[in-house]
Amino acid sequence: MASAETPAAARGDRTVRVDLGTRAYDVLVGPDLVVRAGDLIVQRFGAARAAIVTDENVAAHHLPALEAALTGVGRHAGTIVMPPGESTKSFAELARLSEALLDLKLERGDVIVALGGGVIGDLAGFAAAILRRGIRFVQIPTSLLAQVDSSVGGKTGINTPQGKNLVGAFHQPSLVLADTKALSTLPAREMRAGYAEVAKYGLLGDAPFFAWLEQHWQSVFGNDPTILTEAIEISIAAKARIVERDETETGDRMLLNLGHTFGHALEAWAGYSSRLLHGEAIAIGMTQAARFSEERGLCAAGTAARIECHLRTVCLPTRVAHIPGSDRPEPRALFALMQQDKKVQSGRLTLILLRAIGEAFVTREVDAADIAAFLEREVALPA
Ligand SMILES: NC(=O)c1ccc[n+]([C@@H]2O[C@H](COP(=O)([O-])OP(=O)(O)OC[C@H]3O[C@@H](n4cnc5c(N)ncnc54)[C@H](O)[C@@H]3O)[C@@H](O)[C@H]2O)c1
Repeated sequence: MASAETPAAARGDRTVRVDLGTRAYDVLVGPDLVVRAGDLIVQRFGAARAAIVTDENVAAHHLPALEAALTGVGRHAGTIVMPPGESTKSFAELARLSEALLDLKLERGDVIVALGGGVIGDLAGFAAAILRRGIRFVQIPTSLLAQVDSSVGGKTGINTPQGKNLVGAFHQPSLVLADTKALSTLPAREMRAGYAEVAKYGLLGDAPFFAWLEQHWQSVFGNDPTILTEAIEISIAAKARIVERDETETGDRMLLNLGHTFGHALEAWAGYSSRLLHGEAIAIGMTQAARFSEERGLCAAGTAARIECHLRTVCLPTRVAHIPGSDRPEPRALFALMQQDKKVQSGRLTLILLRAIGEAFVTREVDAADIAAFLEREVALPA
């Protein structure tokens, strides 16, 4: 195994810099970063103590290695293990976590280390944003979705009965360690859901990357270290470049929502349950965005079929009819849910549509009646 002194390049690590001036940070991608986290944290944070926040599922696989790494360098302040699942992103759990972190006597100069998927990253990141008016945090994302999306960009927050992610803060991490080996314990369905976000980067701005995924997806799912690292690095770099241009989502960052306006409505209809994971909803939503673009003559015929073919090949759903269960959403109910989207402005929906694979754009120039009619056809579309 590579030692902490081995140069990053020799170990196969890649570094993506997120260049946000005084809030700039590195995202390291590579194997065994959990095991090496102690040295990497001391290199960057010196004498700071580090408190780990994780969930029960991730703890069972990866907590002993991280605790050993931090204890080995004398920096482990303690560990807080949260219940797994979306319901952990709540005010009640945030309060419990914040008080537990204060009980560990975490000071302003110390760091929180979020070890887990997007739920732990969003919750621990929000706790870091408000604890002692803001302390630093390190993301160690362990799901593919968290590695390529939620751990980078500084969006943190919790859910309320009114909706998902409606309470939160922009708080950038100080370091992200995306350990590709951690993905080996991720359930296959979660891996597929994260892959939808990987494919999203190809669809929204990088046609050669989408074509590369069409060729190499089996190696991504087979945890081939070189291919997996490449796919994650390209995804993170794509997100980093967009976040650098638009940190607080007033413009370009909306491109990252390709498939999300359609997808969120389906997720909300399915009750944010295991019936439809976020990435699965995004796979359907991206295909819908492509079908809608194609129907309107915005992109070439065959674009949606190519996207659907690839997502189906990796066993992601692409149609409403692919959602398990016998009931179907009412098109009008889906439309109402779309109108609750955070990107609605003056009552107009914001959609991310396609001119081609790799050429997404943001538009508010779509008639509500056209979307409603499209949803009627989508709900009726056979599997
Ligand atoms: N902040 C952002 O920019 C942003 C972006 C996208 C999504 N999100 C948020 O991310 C969350 C979804 O993230 P997610 O899909 O990672 O869900 P998650 O955190 O619930 O993780 C999915 C499941 O996999 C388990 N798990 C994670 N890593 C594992 C591993 N290596 N081995 C075994 N099990 C593992 C978790 O315990 C959980 O049961 C949502 O709350 C969403 O709102 C945030």
